[in-house]
Amino acid sequence: MRAVVTGSGSALPVNCVTNADLADRVDTSDEWIVERTGIRQRHIAGENETTSTLATEAARRALEDAGVDASEIGLIILATATPDFTFPATATQVQHALGCGGGVAFDVQAVCSGFLYALGTADSLLRTGMAKKALVIGAETFSRILDWEDRTTCVLFGDGAGAVVLEARDVADNGPGILATKLHADGAHRELLYVDGGPSTTGQVGKLRMKGREVFRHAVVNLADVLKEVLVQANVEVDMIDWVVPHQANARILDATARKLNLDPSKVIVTVDQHANTSAASVPLALDVARRDGRIKAGDLVMFEAMGGGFTWGAALARM
Ligand code: ACO
Repeated sequence: MRAVVTGSGSALPVNCVTNADLADRVDTSDEWIVERTGIRQRHIAGENETTSTLATEAARRALEDAGVDASEIGLIILATATPDFTFPATATQVQHALGCGGGVAFDVQAVCSGFLYALGTADSLLRTGMAKKALVIGAETFSRILDWEDRTTCVLFGDGAGAVVLEARDVADNGPGILATKLHADGAHRELLYVDGGPSTTGQVGKLRMKGREVFRHAVVNLADVLKEVLVQANVEVDMIDWVVPHQANARILDATARKLNLDPSKVIVTVDQHANTSAASVPLALDVARRDGRIKAGDLVMFEAMGGGFTWGAALARM
């Protein structure tokens, strides 16, 4: 039994904000942002767009792509660090909006690695028979937790959502499905990337704070290590990989990780230029873009990877 990706979908807020637009707000420039990050624009949620509305739209598109009716979904796992409310879980709001009540629905919080955590959890639950069909969603409205006066962070993030339908199937050894996943967490580095508020401390939502240079250093090391672990677990050589769908934090992290692994950079799906860092949404958003433009096809071997606040990090290998 394997968990097979049978559909994907994504959603972006209507409003697109360019680097030049940001340069009107804070002391920055298109040149600095492009050179240091590769980001050219990001989508920012308007008043009526929330994490759950974006997630619902992405989920509907994934269901349509998979040819699955919402009533068939027995499990929804939604990865987010920016839920609509402290509770109930945003996954339950999405479940209600889709009209697929009765199954299991919950959120996972692993910041930028959230989608990898959700995917790994859904894979385990499907393989143990808890459900037959699942929606795994990454959705964020990071614009709501940014300090719009802090140029070192506000230029880096965007809003959006991505979703996949996963189905439990009996497949041949060389057939499709998730082949290996590896997840890690290390709470020792909270001060490098965190939000300075929360229900149990300040009672306020808080704003994102980051020591970018140090996060960068940890990201490259941790990502290269976890990718190697997954390759060993799946008994796969790096040159057998058709595509890497990485968390889209920074073009330079993507380049440095590819170099460390001797990975052909043309196999790396890059959307950070268009979406910026959408945290838990970035991997399923990038996957959906590359499936819809025809790059990622059935039978391809695809590596997913992400690293985020906590620190948390992880990778997964799947055959499409
Ligand atoms: N515009 C213009 N200048 C800026 C800006 C800006 N938006 N932001 C910072 N600067 C200035 C700084 O003030 C500093 O000026 P100084 O030398 O006069 O003090 C100078 O640029 C260099 O700043 P650094 O922080 O050293 O720049 P660096 O090359 O490290 O790039 C960046 C910063 C882009 C944040 C980089 O460290 C990075 O991408 N880190 C990874 C962080 C990340 O992606 N986190 C996301 C969550 S975790 C994850 O997803 C992996």
